Amino acid sequence: MNAKRKVIIDCDPGIDDALALMLALSSPELEILGITVVSGNVPAAMGAENALKVLDWMHRPDIPVYLGEERPLIRPYVDAADTHGENGLGNLVCPQVTKVRPRRGAVEFLAEALTEASETGSPVSVIALGPLTNLARLIQRHPECFAGLDEFVSMGGNYRSHGNCSPVAEYNYWCDPHAARTVFEAFASLPSLQGRLLHMVGLDVTRQIVLTPNLRDYFCRLDPELGALIRSMTDFYMDFHWQQEGLIGCVINDPLAVAYFLRRDLCHGFSAYTTVETEGICLGQSVVDACGFWKKAPNSRVLTETDPLGFMELFFSRLLKKSPEELGPMLASLMGGGSL
Ligand code: BDR
Ligand code: CA
Repeated sequence: MNAKRKVIIDCDPGIDDALALMLALSSPELEILGITVVSGNVPAAMGAENALKVLDWMHRPDIPVYLGEERPLIRPYVDAADTHGENGLGNLVCPQVTKVRPRRGAVEFLAEALTEASETGSPVSVIALGPLTNLARLIQRHPECFAGLDEFVSMGGNYRSHGNCSPVAEYNYWCDPHAARTVFEAFASLPSLQGRLLHMVGLDVTRQIVLTPNLRDYFCRLDPELGALIRSMTDFYMDFHWQQEGLIGCVINDPLAVAYFLRRDLCHGFSAYTTVETEGICLGQSVVDACGFWKKAPNSRVLTETDPLGFMELFFSRLLKKSPEELGPMLASLMGGGSL
C-alpha cells in the first residue's frame, strides 16, 4: 500500500471550509498533520473553534488545530459573516468543544513541519482554503522551510470568471491581497520554490460545484445524522446564494481544492505567471499572464475546467463511505445528466 500523503490544511471555517475538512478527514490516503486557521470568513479564534467542531463531528480530536494570523498583512480585516453567518457555520447551533483546545502559533507549526519534512525527505503538502496571511508570514519568517514542501493548492482567485466580492476579485485574495501576492511572488523567486507551481483552484472551477437542495436531500436520506449538520449549515449559505446570485443551491468552493489534491484529473488548466493586484478598484484580482506578455516563467497552475459529477461522486462516496459506482447513477440523475 502507498504511504499516506502528509498534509496541513490552512483554513478559515467557514461553511465550505467545514465541508472541505469533512472530505479530507474522510480520505484515508491523507495524513493530516494539523489544521492551521487564519482570519477570513470569521476571526481566527472563531474559525479555530469551528475546526474543532468539525473534528468532533468526524471523531478526530487527535488532529491539532493552530491559531494563526488575526489580521491581513496590511489591509484592514473584513470578515464574510454575510456569506457564512455570524458564527461562520451558517448560524448552526452546536456546543463549543472543550476537551481539546486550539494551540498557538500556526506559522511556527508550519515552519517546524516543513523543516522536518525537508530533513527527513518526507515532504508535506499544504492545502490553503482561506486568505494566504499565514503562508505569507511563513515566507517572510522562514523562507528556507519550503524545501520540505510537496504541493501547494490554494482555493482562491479567478481567471475568466467574475469575482465574488468585487467585479474582479475573489474573497480569499481580496481579503489579504498583499499576502496572496507574496505567495505567488515566492513561487516565482524563492530559491526553494524555483520551478514549482502554485495550484490555483479559483472561481472558474469552483463556481461549477453547486450543492443543490436535491443533492443535499439525497445525502440526508443516506446519512441523516451528518446530513442534518450539513443541512443546518447550508440553509444560510443557500439563502445567501439566492439573494446574491439568484442560484438555487450553494457553491461549495473549498471542497474542490481538497478533491483536486486527492484526484488530479478532477480539474484541468494551464501553467502561467500569476500575480495579485494590491491597489485600486481591481484590488485582490488575480492577474494571469496567459499569453506570456511579461515573459516570466510560470509560477502557477491555473485550473479552468472541472468535472462536477466526478467531484460529487468523490465527495458523497467519501463522506457516506459508499462506492462511487453505487451513488453515480442517482447523482447523475439529480445533476440532470442521466437517467436511473
Ligand atoms: C472562498 O471565500 C470564502 O468565503 C470561502 O470559504 C472560500 O474559501 C470563496 O471565494
Ligand atoms: Ca475558506
